[in-house]
Amino acid sequence: MGRAEKVLELAKRRGFFWPSFEIYGGMAGFYDYGPLGTALRRNIAEVWRRKFVLEEGLLEIDTPDITPAVVFRASGHEEQFTDLMVTCTSCGAAWRVDELLEERGLPHEGLSAEEAERLLREAGIRCPSCGGELGGVRPFGLMFSLEVGAAGAKRAYLRPETAQGIFINFLNLYYQARSRIPFGAATIGKGYRNEISPRKGLIRLREFNMAEAEIFVDPETKDWPGFEALSGVPLRLVHGEAEEVLPVGEAVSRGIIGSRALGYFMAKTKLFLEEIGIPPEKIRFRKHRKEELAHYSSETWDAEIEISQGWLEVAGLSDRTDYDLRRHEEHSGERLRAFVQEGVSRVRRIRPKMGVLGPMFKSEAQEVARALRGMEPPPSGPIRVEVGGRSLEVPPEAYEVVEEEVHGRSFIPHVIEPSFGLDRILYCLLENSYYEREGTGYRVLALRPNVAPVKAVFLPLVAKDGLDSLAREWWRRALAEGIESYYDDSGSIGRRYARADEIGVPFAVTFDYRTKEDGTVTVRDRDSTQQVRIPLEELIPTLKDAIAGRRKIF
Ligand code: GLY
Repeated sequence: MGRAEKVLELAKRRGFFWPSFEIYGGMAGFYDYGPLGTALRRNIAEVWRRKFVLEEGLLEIDTPDITPAVVFRASGHEEQFTDLMVTCTSCGAAWRVDELLEERGLPHEGLSAEEAERLLREAGIRCPSCGGELGGVRPFGLMFSLEVGAAGAKRAYLRPETAQGIFINFLNLYYQARSRIPFGAATIGKGYRNEISPRKGLIRLREFNMAEAEIFVDPETKDWPGFEALSGVPLRLVHGEAEEVLPVGEAVSRGIIGSRALGYFMAKTKLFLEEIGIPPEKIRFRKHRKEELAHYSSETWDAEIEISQGWLEVAGLSDRTDYDLRRHEEHSGERLRAFVQEGVSRVRRIRPKMGVLGPMFKSEAQEVARALRGMEPPPSGPIRVEVGGRSLEVPPEAYEVVEEEVHGRSFIPHVIEPSFGLDRILYCLLENSYYEREGTGYRVLALRPNVAPVKAVFLPLVAKDGLDSLAREWWRRALAEGIESYYDDSGSIGRRYARADEIGVPFAVTFDYRTKEDGTVTVRDRDSTQQVRIPLEELIPTLKDAIAGRRKIF
């Protein structure tokens, strides 16, 4: 068994995760999380929340998974969020064309359907499953669509990213941020993509867990406070043909990374991945080639982690420019702007001519004037305004366009986006934590205490002579203090240690006959298997400090 197979076997047997709907034959791209996987994912998300939301002062929000179609029409996903697909004319299996081409070392990015079909034909590629002939290539929309309500049902999609829930709330969030730029918002939640052929376990899911932050910056500076403090963080950067390790400050000043805000959040990403236990040498950032960029991005770096199958993307850090807010302005008619009180700028405004509007619109004239004042001046001609649910036409002689000097600058903020796939991170962490103990071959997950699903196990040396009740009593006290732990008295002490090691429990507390004599217990370290004896009254504070990383016991 390879490393990946061993991790998958352990994950299923010990209750981290397994394929969903198995008793009905399963459905590709869906996984269930068991008790340990649920806890591990929650702990990873909590570290993310501390590093991004709390330390950076981001505004955390939670918005619906089901989103009206108009949002994804505006965001460009309805038209552009597609993969090229081909089906087998013989067995009907569907394939992603870019994957078929990539496997043969052929160009596979930024192709039109016609170009892709020509390449497939020229290379003589047939169905990988049955060898049958492949049909025509067509774009396949990756969003799940649904209808909301009964009468007059509204078309909607399951969101393919949480980001849009933040963009469409820009005005609410800007207000919460006391109208100061830069600021950011974050969401931890689910995303959905109707992948054509997901065959990679937890790595490519149709329903997945994301943690996304959208950082709104001034396009003139694209800066984030604290950049200087992280400018020395070394990043391994793969861009074009180059691969080099550079402090983030240098990568920004040499123009390899496009802005300080983007560089800052790349450094933050590295610190986050290290904090959950990914070894630094297994982390790198790869810059997208132009043909690879998503429709909304001007610059993207993938954070990648090395696993047994190679480097795997676990986060994308993108400069989304003003793309999303501009598109939502255009589609919603709302002004999604920020204002800074610096400099002087000239703005064009509509000034209604009341002498003309009055006789023309009578009792509605004031409302028409108010609507006009809030609008962008058109290049020329009549303007349509919505008043009292009606659309009215205002002729050019009823208004004038004036230019005014204003103190300050109004602009559509640009967005820097760190976007994380939590399922992939969890999988990479398990693979990187897995090892087999020398000599015995026993399996161990070297999970750090901050993310380990269970922090400690309470073990009586033997389940008699009051050692069991004492161990139970202290386990209950530990639970009451918030230490996720369990009690185990079944089987030999060696087997119980091995069971705990396999799910990554960092500390094992053993109650033996000496405990009854002098009130001390042993605490065993999972990785070194060393033991220390400590007085019972110090047990809980010691464990809490060790779990929080404030104190080393070993
Ligand atoms: N929001 C970035 C992504 O969906 O990949």
